[in-house]
Amino acid sequence: MIGVFDSGFGGLTVHRALIEALPERDFTYLGDNRNAPYGVRPPIDVLNLTCAALERLFAEGCTLVVVACNTASTVALRWIQQQWLPVRRLEDGVRRNVIGIVVPTIEAATGILRGDGAALTVAVFATRRTVESDCYPSEIRKRRPEIAVVQQACPDLAGSIERGAPRGELRALVARYTGELLGRLGAAPECVILGCTHYPLVADLFAAALPPGVCMIHQPDATARALKLYLSRHPEYDGSHGGHRRFLSTGFSGEALPLIEKFWGGEVPFTQA
Ligand code: DGL
Repeated sequence: MIGVFDSGFGGLTVHRALIEALPERDFTYLGDNRNAPYGVRPPIDVLNLTCAALERLFAEGCTLVVVACNTASTVALRWIQQQWLPVRRLEDGVRRNVIGIVVPTIEAATGILRGDGAALTVAVFATRRTVESDCYPSEIRKRRPEIAVVQQACPDLAGSIERGAPRGELRALVARYTGELLGRLGAAPECVILGCTHYPLVADLFAAALPPGVCMIHQPDATARALKLYLSRHPEYDGSHGGHRRFLSTGFSGEALPLIEKFWGGEVPFTQA
């Protein structure tokens, strides 16, 4: 069973792509709606909440978990992989792994940008906590030090998408954030990473606000490709083939139905975790 974790329902944008890429696999999705949003929480909260969510997914029988949330991936995942998982494994002897959304995104971005010596710039739009983690710039630097990375925190964007703000309001917000970034840069970036589960819903507004020709990474597709490849290399982490789906939320209520529909494109049978 593969677990997919997000701070809320936004990760459904990623989950959908994973299911489409691997329809035969069993998946359990967990949204921590009771504690969302993560993007404004102190890092220690993000870490503790992510560990608690992983425990919950392990208890559901997941041996591989994809952290779809950018904030959890950038703030907590490195420590979880290096420190927490090995200790956790000693406790019950079960081999489990947790993978995030950052590496697939970066691999997609650096794969597109050719290293022909030209100065290259990647722009990252994300929550404040993701930007402060400096995870995207440092991970890109490790692979391609010649690429410059500029970041733009969009503190009001995910919340506005969640509360169903009108398109005009979202357009104005996106224009403000892209304007701030382009103003600092003085030139168009070659590539843009929309580093938040919610931003695929306003990808068209980003495309319209950015200069033509800027390449935009689609995180759900990049993550689905990476998961498929990972499973072909590490079949020991998941052998499921029933196509079963479970959707859990720590804070599910009927009021969330329009939001779920927005992220998923239809109804989802969520149950309270
Ligand atoms: N899922 C979060 C992310 O991708 C956005 C929502 C939140 O702040 O919890 O960063």
